[in-house]
Amino acid sequence: MSEEFEAPRAPTGTHDVLPPESSRWQSLLVLFATLAERWGFGMVHTPMFEDLRVFHRGMGEGSEVVGKEMYEFEDRGGRRLALRPEGTASIVRAFVQHRPTTPWRAWYATPSFRYERPQAGRYRQHHQVGVEALGSDDPDVDVEVITLAQEFFHGLGLSQFTLSVNSMGCSTCRPAYLDALRSHLEPQVASLCPEHQERFALNPLRVLDCKKDACLDTTAEAPMLLGALCEDCRTHHARVLDGLNARGVAWVANERLVRGFDYYTRTTFEFASSALEGAQNAIGGGGRYDGLVEQLGGPATPGIGFGIGIERALLACDAEGVFAASPPVPVAFVVDVTGGVAARDLVASLRSMGLFVERAYDGRSMKAQFKAADRSGAPLALLIGADELAAGSVTIRALREQRDQVTKPLGELLNGIEQTGEIQW
Ligand code: HAM
Repeated sequence: MSEEFEAPRAPTGTHDVLPPESSRWQSLLVLFATLAERWGFGMVHTPMFEDLRVFHRGMGEGSEVVGKEMYEFEDRGGRRLALRPEGTASIVRAFVQHRPTTPWRAWYATPSFRYERPQAGRYRQHHQVGVEALGSDDPDVDVEVITLAQEFFHGLGLSQFTLSVNSMGCSTCRPAYLDALRSHLEPQVASLCPEHQERFALNPLRVLDCKKDACLDTTAEAPMLLGALCEDCRTHHARVLDGLNARGVAWVANERLVRGFDYYTRTTFEFASSALEGAQNAIGGGGRYDGLVEQLGGPATPGIGFGIGIERALLACDAEGVFAASPPVPVAFVVDVTGGVAARDLVASLRSMGLFVERAYDGRSMKAQFKAADRSGAPLALLIGADELAAGSVTIRALREQRDQVTKPLGELLNGIEQTGEIQW
């Protein structure tokens, strides 16, 4: 090791996921994929970076993520690009590009990059699983999408979370409401929190979502969007809530729920874990974005989806003591004290028959190999000593129960596995 070279660490706000934690990630992804596919979503991969305009136009220049948190860069060909800060805009860009027939349902699992101030539950590279359903504005789709997210959380074993629901209206009712909100807040701008004094003009809605006392007090009497919805949005919202009730999905109305991106219309929702710290307790959220496809150059196509933070969901699992890591355990550990060639061949045969088996390397002593076998968690050792090698046999020894060891011909062992899929002894 060179003395001057300080070994680099993962960049601030990022983290490595190693076993056994990674086994939880794998199980989480399998659970999500299983549910998403049952709900009719197909997996979609999009590039990790996109033309900057995908996010500027998609998420809105007024959104905090676009304004302050994007990883933007110019490539060697002078193209303006950005690392994906979320999944929706990219999926919609892909939809516009490929024009699949609608309804089109996509699910994804993706890293997302936001230059945020890192803290527990908030990272500069976080990971999301999510879905996007394009092509229908039927409120039943909203119900299905929300129900899928809830089923996923239940599948992880989570129970301490709440679902907040709101409506963001549409291009018919929102502009007039925004005017009303602006007029209400304008004379009181000086009493908003410092951040919103500055950002108020850009997007007055965000003030409603601010948790600071200054903004809460100032907006106490402010008009709320739910009261200003047009007839169509009101009917849509009522149908969604009715559908959630029919499905037994518990929800709370939150008139102040204003999600961070400009693309939202009508239904918006967020799942918050009560087992996590307040500021970082959103484990997932989403909503409708009926204008986004057009915004990105496609034909008018409604859509709705959600994103769930994998790290946050797992933190909530830790806090609730559910969904523990269960890394796979080998069914057997091959101990070869004859030089390693026998282990090489036996391990290869067993793996090709579908078994997860382990062995030691580097010609270690019998004692060291049994120690490694013990650490591996394997219930059995398959021992090959000089006698076994000479006789073409294997000795099967239980590592975690009292039982006499058995020596049997190798051929018999392999035949038994072929017939039953298990080590017979
Ligand atoms: P979002 O609320 O920005 O929505 O992110 C979704 C989830 O990702 C959050 O609820 C949270 O669990 C997690 N998350 C976000 N930022 C971070 C971070 N810095 N560190 C850790 N976890 C984080 C979206 O991204 C929308 N695309 C969701 C959507 C899909 N709307 C419609 N379709």
